[in-house]
Amino acid sequence: MKRFYVAFLRTDDEISDFFMVRSSGIKIGSNKKQYLDIFLADKSGEISAKKWDVSEAELAIFNDLREGDCVKVKALVTEWNGAKQLKLTRLRKAEPQDALERADFVKSAPENAQDMYDYVSRAANSIVDEDLKKLSLALLERNKSKLMYYPAAAKNHHAELGGLLYHMKRMLMMTKRYCAVYPILNLDFLIAGVLAHDIEKLTEMIANEDGIVSEYSFEGKLLGHLVSGVKVIDQMARELGVPYEKAVMLEHMVLSHHYEPEFGSPKRPMFPEAELLHYLDIVDARLYDMETALQAVSPGTFSDKVRTLDFRMLYKPSCGSGSKDEL
Ligand SMILES: [Fe+2]
Ligand SMILES: [Fe+2]
Repeated sequence: MKRFYVAFLRTDDEISDFFMVRSSGIKIGSNKKQYLDIFLADKSGEISAKKWDVSEAELAIFNDLREGDCVKVKALVTEWNGAKQLKLTRLRKAEPQDALERADFVKSAPENAQDMYDYVSRAANSIVDEDLKKLSLALLERNKSKLMYYPAAAKNHHAELGGLLYHMKRMLMMTKRYCAVYPILNLDFLIAGVLAHDIEKLTEMIANEDGIVSEYSFEGKLLGHLVSGVKVIDQMARELGVPYEKAVMLEHMVLSHHYEPEFGSPKRPMFPEAELLHYLDIVDARLYDMETALQAVSPGTFSDKVRTLDFRMLYKPSCGSGSKDEL
């Protein structure tokens, strides 16, 4: 039975428990000795761990560790650069008789994949423009099997089973509300843009059915999901007879959604729907990271520094969560 979950570990805890290996490697320390540098995870999050001064006998075991293996560790919870880290004293591979529950180790979106898929396909069906609708539906149908388990990232936001669908669903929920406030916005383009913006993450990353990314694909490394997305839309638009202007506008939304050249966008957004798509993406990613970081924080206290949020600490108020009424 698993007792210690990553998100709830406290500095100076001494723990003995099972975790899943996310990555591992043998490195050489400044003292010229070999050490094990390993990322361990469970359904609540992941944590860096080190086993210093690795013996020859341990080396054989550690070199054999693969991503997705479960291991039992004894460790002390320490802190390094504002983040928790495990200092391992023992590590062994899990045995069948340990009778582990896979669900304890796999981080998963909080909603059922089929329900999320139904939501996004209802959104595609609600598109009024027939061209954008058929393109969006074709994009979903073509990618359905991978969408059911793919994460939205290897690390950071939505790096979880079903994470890409969850990311798409929450962005879609926001689009409708923005369109009610700003009449200039075209809801059809926003829905199509949300559905298409990260769809080529399905080919950019290689993930297993637990939603864990092992590596980036050849095309993922050389082109990335923005350029691959443009290629796919261009090809599908030709197949489906989508008019040139609409196809290129959707391609521009995908191409510009990272906003800055250093984050992969060669063009900045050049119409309102493209501009908003970028911010919906950012809002969903940031709030996901904040939700995750705050899950184990007690009210009235601060989180650890969060790497994905520029090493900010986050505060969890002790004064409740406020009104949920619509204005
Ligand atoms: Fe993206
Ligand atoms: Fe995204």
